[in-house]
Amino acid sequence: MFLTDEEKAVLDGSEGEARAHAMDLMVRYAKALGAERLVETNNVCGGVVGSLPGRRDVLPEDKRHDMNAVYSLLNLDSDKTLDIPPVKTNTYRLIEAMDADLYDVQGVGEETQRLVRETTAFCQKSGYQLCNTCTPYQVGNVPLFGEHCAWMESSAVIYINSLIGARSNVEGAHSTAAASLIGKIPYWGYHIPENRRGTHLVEVEYPIDNMLDWGLMGYYVGEKVQENVPVFTGISGVPNANKLKHFGASMASSGGVEMYHIVGVTPEAPTRDVAFGGNRAQETIRFGRAELEEAYSWFSTAKDTDVDFVVLGCPHGSLEQVRLVAGLLEGKRLSANTDLWMFIPRSIKAIADRMGYTDTFRKAGAYLMTDSCAALSKVSPKDVKTAATDSCKQAHYLPATMGFGTWLGSTEQCVNAAISGKWTGGLE
Ligand code: F3S
Repeated sequence: MFLTDEEKAVLDGSEGEARAHAMDLMVRYAKALGAERLVETNNVCGGVVGSLPGRRDVLPEDKRHDMNAVYSLLNLDSDKTLDIPPVKTNTYRLIEAMDADLYDVQGVGEETQRLVRETTAFCQKSGYQLCNTCTPYQVGNVPLFGEHCAWMESSAVIYINSLIGARSNVEGAHSTAAASLIGKIPYWGYHIPENRRGTHLVEVEYPIDNMLDWGLMGYYVGEKVQENVPVFTGISGVPNANKLKHFGASMASSGGVEMYHIVGVTPEAPTRDVAFGGNRAQETIRFGRAELEEAYSWFSTAKDTDVDFVVLGCPHGSLEQVRLVAGLLEGKRLSANTDLWMFIPRSIKAIADRMGYTDTFRKAGAYLMTDSCAALSKVSPKDVKTAATDSCKQAHYLPATMGFGTWLGSTEQCVNAAISGKWTGGLE
């Protein structure tokens, strides 16, 4: 594998032990992938592991609150405690284990609070931007077309690859940590133009309109194409960012899709031929009403129509989505038996506060929460049996990670369920 003189020097310790270790990890990773070289990146989004209880148990007891030791082992795979220097690249923190203000409402115990305080202080010291969201692109980190990135969250990677034309693979906690210290990532996968070409054709024969339809189509196609690159034709009009955020998140949940094209919409697909770039479609998939219904049928994990918990904001909600939900809640009160939590980025929450949306939520008995999410941070009200959500991704994870029977429906149906306490939604 080719290394520049500068990369070799870092490997030999010119920038200290921790960066040498990070370079070694990156070179081993690149070799395992079959990459011929590394590429520069100045845009990393990753996780700092160790704020959920149990994750630090692999460390000796006296090291479990030493963040250099925690980060060395859990993020850089080093048994030796390294002195972790500041990040070298723009580095953004993804989701955290709790909302920094509403952890009591989330039922987060003291042990987790302590672990989160420690990881937060570590991020502040090392220069990780504390965005704490799975949607960095909603809060100021919008990469340029062609920019090489090292992002970890699958719903965000598919978004920036497909809708912006930035270049990233779905990275892990180790590779993003190493990239943050050396500013390099293997030149492999979706960094290489040829790998971004379409492989499967999807002919859409049904007017895909609302966010649920987009989510279901994404889920269906992800299941069919797995880790390939679908090219969609037959889409009329230009969908908005919220719908495509759900679309990509769904495809990345049911399959491992990291890149797609919509002919006439996404930047690397001005025409079908350009999207395929000379590839022959391996398969043609038709998507109509029957396929939409089939995808919806995969989600019927709930039996009880009494809904305890409504989860919105997966991926984290936009200001536009907060406004929609606030409008639905205006002057209403949630059922005494039901909670509604909507997850959003912290900086969007700041605007929601100024707009009065947070007050509207609170008056109705609902919460706008930040930094976290139900399925991945594993936070919920007490004794939930049945949840409802407007997100295919959250509906995919909640039964597995939280054990909740989960209804899937539109945002409006979910808010209605929170107000009445009953599920009456379904595919329209
Ligand atoms: Fe984000 Fe959690 Fe969904 S991390 S994409 S809100 S599962």
